[in-house]
Amino acid sequence: MNFNIDACQMISLPKIADPRGNLTFIEGGSHIPFDILRVYYLYDVPGGAERGGHAHKGLQQLIIAMSGSFDVVLDDGREKKRVHLNRSYNGLYVCPMIWRELDNFSSGSVCMVLASSKYDEDDYYRNYADFIQARTSL
Ligand code: TYD
Repeated sequence: MNFNIDACQMISLPKIADPRGNLTFIEGGSHIPFDILRVYYLYDVPGGAERGGHAHKGLQQLIIAMSGSFDVVLDDGREKKRVHLNRSYNGLYVCPMIWRELDNFSSGSVCMVLASSKYDEDDYYRNYADFIQARTSL
C-alpha cells in the first residue's frame, strides 16, 4: 500500500442538489476506501487554535468541513501539502502514516472525521521524531 502524500486525495462525494437544500451521502467501502467504524467532530474551535499534530499507524480517515473552513497540513516525512477544506461535499482522504495538523479554522466551523477503526491510543505517533523514524523503516 502507498502511504505517501499522493495517496491522500480529495474525494468528491455525491451531491443531490435540491432547491429545498442539498443532500450528500457517504457509504463506507463505496465512496471511500474503508468501512466506517467511528465518526468524530471538532467544533467550537477557538480562533488561532491548532488540532492534530500526530500520525496514525493504521487508521484511515476522511476529513470533511461540514461547516465553515479550515486547513489540513499533510506530511509524509518527505513532502508537505496544505489543503483548504470548505465544502461539505468534498472529503480529504488521509491514509495511514501521515503526520497531520489542522489550523486556520473559521469561526463556527465543524470538522467531521470518518475513521476506519475505533479509538486506540496505541495507533498514534504523537512524537514527530518517532514518526520520522517509523517512516524510514516502512
Ligand atoms: P486527538 O486525536 O489528539 O485530537 P485531534 O487530532 O483532533 O487534535 O484527541 C484528543 C483527545 O480526545 C485525546 O485525549 C484522545 C481523545 N479522543 C477519544 O477519546 N476518542 C476519539 O475518537 C478521538 C478522536 C479522540
